[in-house]
Amino acid sequence: MSKSVYIGMSADIIHPGHLNIIKEGAKLGSVTVGVLTDKAIASYKRLPYLDYEQRKMIVENLKGVEKVIPQDTLDYVPNLMNVKPDFVVHGDDWKEGIQQETRQRVIDTIKEWNGKVIDVPYTQGISSSKLNEKVKSIGTTPEIRMKRLRRLIQAKPVVRILESHSGLTGLIAENAKVSVNGMNQEFDGMWSSSLTDSTSKGKPDIEAVDITTRMHGLNDTLECTTKPIIYDGDTGGKVEHFVFTVRTLERHGVSAVIIEDKTGLKKNSLFGTAVPQTQDTIEDFSAKIKAGKMAQVTEDFMVIARVESLILGKSVEDALERAHAYVKAGADGVMIHSKEKTGEDIIEFCERFRKDNKNTPIVVVPSTFNHITEEEFSKVGVNVVIYANHMLRASYPAMMDVAKSILANGRSSDANDKCMPIKEILELIPGTK
Ligand code: SPV
Ligand code: MG
Repeated sequence: MSKSVYIGMSADIIHPGHLNIIKEGAKLGSVTVGVLTDKAIASYKRLPYLDYEQRKMIVENLKGVEKVIPQDTLDYVPNLMNVKPDFVVHGDDWKEGIQQETRQRVIDTIKEWNGKVIDVPYTQGISSSKLNEKVKSIGTTPEIRMKRLRRLIQAKPVVRILESHSGLTGLIAENAKVSVNGMNQEFDGMWSSSLTDSTSKGKPDIEAVDITTRMHGLNDTLECTTKPIIYDGDTGGKVEHFVFTVRTLERHGVSAVIIEDKTGLKKNSLFGTAVPQTQDTIEDFSAKIKAGKMAQVTEDFMVIARVESLILGKSVEDALERAHAYVKAGADGVMIHSKEKTGEDIIEFCERFRKDNKNTPIVVVPSTFNHITEEEFSKVGVNVVIYANHMLRASYPAMMDVAKSILANGRSSDANDKCMPIKEILELIPGTK
């Protein structure tokens, strides 16, 4: 009887190294490829460029592949227990670094039925991560970028979004990376904040900066990034205007707009009840959501309803009633906001909302209740966490500090340590030289 072979791969960018592994596998028996799902890949690195169905189709058509199945976790064990392969074939690069553990678990598992791991010598001169860098430098299209938010929400326990109000902050959201326990952590996308867009223009956050101006600014972020963008649409304005906003955002490849259920002169939510603010009626706000959903051209764009009940001193009960009504009106997600420091009201809302609604994405903006971790939010059903103003709040005090140092000393050298070296700024943006 023919032996069976299992090969796991992401297959986002297929290169000769992959073909070699399949070729070596096919010499040993009938090859089943476990293509990692978006969820499995997103658990340890950035979402692949192609979605699972596209990657599956490619691998199915490679010479030497008999069968393709989804591998839903980074861990091979669940699939191995089903397939019970005689051989698991992999590039020998997994003998070192973080992948050693995965390899050992495979060895221990397939030992039960005398299965063997075959390490194929790594194909030199080709690196997926180098190819990935190249693809990233080519950029993206509005359509691919827009779709990415829905894919991320499906694939990740929590989607992590950072505020951006310029090309430079966009580059930080795009490129900032840290390694935590061997796993790369990065942001999944950007938040175009009304507060920081207004503040960086020296204007108050009262919808005084119009959509045309904000789109000019957002274009800087779009130009130098590939990650998805969520746009803070304030109240959405008049229904007749909101439909144009949706079209504009969609055309630019923005993934979602969040509109809040307030009317009249909008003030920033973090003022709470310290300033007069009026909540819209459920009927009128639902009509605005409906109009927005009717206006979009693709299936992918998202209109997310932001419930301001807790900001305005109303109950969790009131917030829940509104959230369910907005979903009924067609909202693709709900954002619940509060300025309470404890975050208890937010947690209660999420738990109770999830009891009645299992799937609609929940978005939170922990500016005041910011001791709560992404993991804790995920446990109560939150899908998207937005760090809504941190780039601007970090930069202003730093800039003011240096400005004052120059004034106090009549020269700038005293602030040297507070500024990035000239050499570094020259090398910051590729192509400056
Ligand atoms: C923004 O960032 O502009 C927001 C979030 O709308 S908040 O400032 O908390 O209201
Ligand atoms: Mg805002």
